[in-house]
Amino acid sequence: MSSQIDHLLNESRRFAPPEEFAASAIATAELYDRAKADREGFWAEQARELLHWHKPFTEVLDWSNPPFAKWFADGELNVAYNCLDRHVEAGNGDRVALLWEGEPGDERRVTYAELTDEVKRLANVLTGLGVGQGDRVAIYMPAIPEAIAAMLAVVRIGAVHSVVFGGFSADSLRARLDDAAAKVVITADGGYRKGKVSPLKPAVDLALADRNGSGPQETVENVIVVRRGGNDIDWVEGRDIWWHDVVSQAPAEHEARPFPAENPLFILYTSGTTGKPKGILHTTGGYLTQSAFTNKVVHDVHPEDDVFWCTADIGWVTGHSYVTYGPLANGATQVLYEGTPDTPHPGRWWEIVEKYGVTILYTAPTAIRSFMKIGRKVPKRFDLSSLRLLGSVGEPINPEAWMWYRKIIGGKAAPIVDTWWQTETGAIMISALPGVTETKPGAAQVALPGVSVDVVDEDGTHVGNGNGGLLVITEPWPSMLRGIWGDPDRFVETYWKKFEKQGFYFAGDGARLDDDGEVWLMGRVDDVMNVSGHRLSTTEIESALVANEAVAEAAVVGASDETTGQAVVAFVIIKESYLAEHAPEGLANTLRLWVGEQIGPIARPRDVYIVGELPKTRSGKIMRRLLRDVAEGREVGDTTTLADTAVMSVISAQLK
Ligand code: WT7
Repeated sequence: MSSQIDHLLNESRRFAPPEEFAASAIATAELYDRAKADREGFWAEQARELLHWHKPFTEVLDWSNPPFAKWFADGELNVAYNCLDRHVEAGNGDRVALLWEGEPGDERRVTYAELTDEVKRLANVLTGLGVGQGDRVAIYMPAIPEAIAAMLAVVRIGAVHSVVFGGFSADSLRARLDDAAAKVVITADGGYRKGKVSPLKPAVDLALADRNGSGPQETVENVIVVRRGGNDIDWVEGRDIWWHDVVSQAPAEHEARPFPAENPLFILYTSGTTGKPKGILHTTGGYLTQSAFTNKVVHDVHPEDDVFWCTADIGWVTGHSYVTYGPLANGATQVLYEGTPDTPHPGRWWEIVEKYGVTILYTAPTAIRSFMKIGRKVPKRFDLSSLRLLGSVGEPINPEAWMWYRKIIGGKAAPIVDTWWQTETGAIMISALPGVTETKPGAAQVALPGVSVDVVDEDGTHVGNGNGGLLVITEPWPSMLRGIWGDPDRFVETYWKKFEKQGFYFAGDGARLDDDGEVWLMGRVDDVMNVSGHRLSTTEIESALVANEAVAEAAVVGASDETTGQAVVAFVIIKESYLAEHAPEGLANTLRLWVGEQIGPIARPRDVYIVGELPKTRSGKIMRRLLRDVAEGREVGDTTTLADTAVMSVISAQLK
């Protein structure tokens, strides 16, 4: 980490906004002044300008019971109406909402009118199944248009979705279904990944069945299944329903009823510092305001002209805010791609950019770094001249990757916005405004208009320019999380306790202010890893490891990795009783695969090291810092607080 920081501090390249871009940019420097003069008034103005309110709000922010915020609380709106019907009513029904590309190369163009029709019918189906306001519906789907329709149909009737990434295992799905007490699951038979059908419905069946003696799942009444993969699946009569049977039969009329602005919109689970994922809760009015606003001013989306492509899966917050809600609220046209970047060839993404004339690309540093590794020859084979803006999200982007992105993908012309935010913040918080801000490779730079952040020390004191500390958000913002599903104490404890006195939100990230007072992100300061822009908890993976019969103890760290940012590295102690009866050969790999089965392939460790001991403090806390040194091949740091100071040399020797 420290060499990375030194490297960043030497970074002094600057790129002025290109004149041509600035001339038609939606963002202006004046936005900062307006927000500064009246922050709440600024957000109220955005909410009124960007959204249709069935009942206009008169209150903006209610912060009388911090940290439980209410935004636009007496207003009423319908999120699906804002994303669909109003565009059709404005005469834009024929505009393409989704330029969908399946991994095998099949394609569908879905207009706003068609998407609206599908959503209305599905809304009627859900109502018919007894789903009402506040009920939870889980969505476990590939990146197909029906996934977006499913999200919008759920929120259209005031219900709450919980999208579970299709790469999560049956156990992870089960835990999320149980926690949210979901009533319905919407899934597909399977979807295409890496050239073959990756089954989904079988995982739903497993999740709903008796898992490890816990009994069958109790809350899910129906499973709606889209036919996509054509793979064989089991069928439970009375519970399972084919999407194509019910949706086309359902009435086409459906009125979008208004709901209060603080009606829950979705729950999205994300890893924290304990073994149990947190259900981050978002509500409607504030969330939709900020996701639409940021998609407009940061992504500079001009709905009539642009083809926007956010490469994130809808299973992550980026897919919620910048595939479903922001772009559709703005009436944009976007690409939705089902598969992996290298199937069937390594130029697949660039082929899609050329084919659809993508103008704005929003992706993660890990993807950029893996393209860098393959080399410029691949993207150079395609015409990428339509691209006029590039975005980065999910993890710090190293200046080398930033420069490569600018030169090879952006043709040295397209501005790059490095956007910092979190599942919890709901929408972008820190980013350059394209056409306004002079950009710096490697820095997220400045808080958006209407957003207040700071970098502080452990006591909450501003660190001043040129110094590092902890990133905090100092004022409530419209798309802030409203809580952790079913666990208000954990919400307070995790985000608000540390700087209770000041009332700051603690993001869990380390950051630095440069001499201009701009923000550089330095990675997580807690036991959370960021692998390929996806958040994983060390403790969650440790729990999965110790659940294996062979494992006595486990410690997991995030070690820096050239492509994925961080990689999961596990140190495990094997039970003597197990070794007495089994050969240790192949065990490390078995445990890697085990974690993949328990949580999902993204959590699979890059390395599993079998060791005799783990470094612990006298109070028994594992010193992950030291293990990280070993995993990253560094000299092991200060070991004086270890209970047994010799243990690190033993471990290092074992790994040689
Ligand atoms: C964590 C949030 C934001 C959607 C995707 C990830 C890291 C995110 C950046 C960035 C440096 C970043 C932070 C943050 N992160 N964007 N531009 N520069 N770090 O959402 O899974 O909730 O993870 O991702 O560490 O806390 P998430």
